[in-house]
Amino acid sequence: MSEAVADIGVLGLGTMGGMLALNLAEKGFATALHNRTAEKARRLVADNPALAARLHPSTSLHDFVARLKAPRLVLLMVEAGPPVDEQIAALMPLLSQGDILIDAGNADFNDTVRRSRAIEGTGLRFVGMGVSGGASGARHGPSIMVGGEDDVWRRLQPVLEAIAARYEGEPCVARLGPDGAGHFVKTIHNGIEYADMQMIAEIYGILRDGAQLEPGEMAAVFADWNTRGLSSYLVEITAAVLAERDPDTGRPLVDLIVDEAGQKGTGRWSVIEAQKLGIGATTLEAAVSARGLSSRRAEREAASRVYAGIGAKDPDGAFPVTPAGLRELESALQTAKIIAYAQGYAVMAAASEEFGWALPLRDIARIWRAGCIIRSVFLDDIARAFEAGDGVVNLLQAPSLAARVAEGEGALRRIVSKAALAGLPVPALAAALSYFDDYRRVRGTANLVQGQRDFFGAHTFQRFDRPGRHHHAWAGG
Ligand code: 6PG
Repeated sequence: MSEAVADIGVLGLGTMGGMLALNLAEKGFATALHNRTAEKARRLVADNPALAARLHPSTSLHDFVARLKAPRLVLLMVEAGPPVDEQIAALMPLLSQGDILIDAGNADFNDTVRRSRAIEGTGLRFVGMGVSGGASGARHGPSIMVGGEDDVWRRLQPVLEAIAARYEGEPCVARLGPDGAGHFVKTIHNGIEYADMQMIAEIYGILRDGAQLEPGEMAAVFADWNTRGLSSYLVEITAAVLAERDPDTGRPLVDLIVDEAGQKGTGRWSVIEAQKLGIGATTLEAAVSARGLSSRRAEREAASRVYAGIGAKDPDGAFPVTPAGLRELESALQTAKIIAYAQGYAVMAAASEEFGWALPLRDIARIWRAGCIIRSVFLDDIARAFEAGDGVVNLLQAPSLAARVAEGEGALRRIVSKAALAGLPVPALAAALSYFDDYRRVRGTANLVQGQRDFFGAHTFQRFDRPGRHHHAWAGG
């Protein structure tokens, strides 16, 4: 029987699990390791001799649990879905009163709520934890979004604050609410991530097909933008991706990559939940849809032949590569980004009310300032916007951000218009612009929709000039 020496155990040593284990060991925590293929645990230790003293590979699940000091902390980093349930079922008979199970994968928050309720009353505790930052974030400091009971958070807080990213010395980890709250916020993080990445890709499309720039030239543009308001991890890596040359051919690697985007599903979940809450997250939806369309490459090739020549309006001159022209693109992207983040936040605010979570929206911006994939200086602006005006109903009504949108909406409008005329698809940028126009319009067009609904379905409508709901006997109805 192995001796109980480990402060925490990591079960699942894929990229993220392995990196988290190394981060834990580096911060001084004796860490037990378990993986279905035991070799991965041994390999992790062998590849990291400097941390070996605090890494304890196990030979079985029993051995893994035996190595954990009570109350045990077990961090699951396995594929979302049934594998999590399988691991919980296998572990439960081996754990004791007060032990804590932490699901740190990209779980669907509905599953986390279900698992939390199933574990209630068993003596065990359950935490759903969103971890963002990819492999390097897991290794050197992720942003961590915790859902679970407060007393369990207090137990985990020292460990998680030790491994989390820091922004100006502040650990990027927080308890956001009970059970599924952490995974829900991570899901919205990923929806915003999709939107951010899609809007950057749309600007790339304009620079490539509208301004006819080469990848190296575009890299310089994004690198320059990364020194100002758009400074962010995603803009930074965009410049790096565009600058990269294929070692075999010497060609820009981005030109050799097939234009079919993958998606593991978290972005899709964010728009499903937005729709279930009745909150339009149109830029997030456009980004998920764009990924889906990109994956139908053969169909797109056939369609290009069906519509050969249509829409390929010569955009020559529409996107001048001048300081003013590039500034317009920069401002358009920055403005659309504010609108996309406002949508993501509106979904979180609606969920907070729907599920009674009291999500700390300002703190969510604060823990996203470092470590996570959408980390950026802009998140500091969002945190300040919440600090400046409590009860912000929508970030588009936060004075500091409203001023920036008002200043940049012209650039966004011109870029979307010119892209449309040039036949350059900008679904997320266009969604941001139309959302902005719809959101700020007092007299919309839903009155006609109400009339239509009442005409065919007698669904009734309200009137400005009298109380109550009304059905009209439509001529021809
Ligand atoms: C993060 C990332 C990560 C993401 C994967 C796959 O926050 O570290 O969002 O969790 O899920 O990189 O993402 P896709 O959904 O694009 O496959």
